[in-house]
Amino acid sequence: MLHAVIMAGGSGTRFWPLSRQALPKQFLTLAGERSLIQAAFDRCQPMILGERFWVVTNESMIETTAEHLPEVPKTHLIPEPCGRNTAPCVGLAALLLAQEDPDAIMLVMPADHVISPIENFQEAVLNAVNVVKKDPEQLVLFGVPPTSPATGYGYIERCTSISNGVFKVASFREKPDRPTAEEYLQQGTFYWNCGIFVWKAQTILNELEKHQPEIFAQLKQLQKSINTPAWDSALAECFPKMPSISIDYAVLEKSKKIAVVEAPFDWDDVGSLEAMSRLNSTDENGNTVIGTACLVDSKDNIVRSSTGHTVGLLGIKNCIVVHTPDATLVADRTDENAIRELVAALKEQG
Ligand code: GDD
Ligand code: MG
Repeated sequence: MLHAVIMAGGSGTRFWPLSRQALPKQFLTLAGERSLIQAAFDRCQPMILGERFWVVTNESMIETTAEHLPEVPKTHLIPEPCGRNTAPCVGLAALLLAQEDPDAIMLVMPADHVISPIENFQEAVLNAVNVVKKDPEQLVLFGVPPTSPATGYGYIERCTSISNGVFKVASFREKPDRPTAEEYLQQGTFYWNCGIFVWKAQTILNELEKHQPEIFAQLKQLQKSINTPAWDSALAECFPKMPSISIDYAVLEKSKKIAVVEAPFDWDDVGSLEAMSRLNSTDENGNTVIGTACLVDSKDNIVRSSTGHTVGLLGIKNCIVVHTPDATLVADRTDENAIRELVAALKEQG
């Protein structure tokens, strides 16, 4: 049976002031009407209905997650006592799923990406599921052709073809340095890893046992308390003991049984506020406006205002202006990473 697991642990530092500690990126609506986490749910319908959805998120986010996804049973919202990156997150979901359904296949997805069209996404997922059904030991990734030597992605090296649009993977390298990424880009046999995975719950547990014995030991310990009153305290005790590491470094760089489905969909990992310009329309002066704004003699800006508030721009170029009821950002658009510095400075200021 195919289940969906949403990993929702991001902080969204680069989305200030839209996202805060109390409102991470997955709850933002950056395009259309639905939040990013709702869009992740929608893109699986009707392929994977609510009762086969799981969300792994910090315990402080459970209530908001339930509000955004009322279709998902409350018992499927898995609270993490602390963030331990994606390997423990995936391990925890796999443990619970394998217990409920020993043959469970999981589609693991980030909570905060934008993908279209949905039909092509579902076709690719079913393609990946078929790979796993034929060979239950396979870990299946989705790859998009790289367009720049970005260092923030995993790189998948394609090998021989398994079937139409599906390849064996020769190697996986998470976040290479710039010269290596440039080499990969030139070679033409690499994909960017979309961060979406299909595998059997039992298979990823086996891989964790092999490559991450410290994580597996805690999962094994936790397993004893599943469906008992001791679960909450066991989770509080075992989960923080797991090493903090992403599934990419923990397993994918080490595993020998990986396949990649060439993604037949558009994919945007919504890394920064810049995404608002890619995901919404732009006027003839290169401005993207969300909400109410009046722009005079202004070019190439991104403006977002909150309801009932009008932003005016006069003679402004290449800026991001985001108004929210309690905080406003005005920033140069050139350096999208600089927002992190601002957030750090704000923290220091208290
Ligand atoms: N529940 C939970 N707990 N979720 C987490 C945690 C955690 O501790 N840490 C991260 N996540 C969630 C994030 O919210 C996001 O939805 C997803 O897992 C991926 O985490 P990122 O932190 O965004 O990973 P990344 O961008 O550095 O790298 C991954 O994604 C790239 C594509 O966007 C890797 O898989 C790369 O290989 C890939 O190219
Ligand atoms: Mg990411």
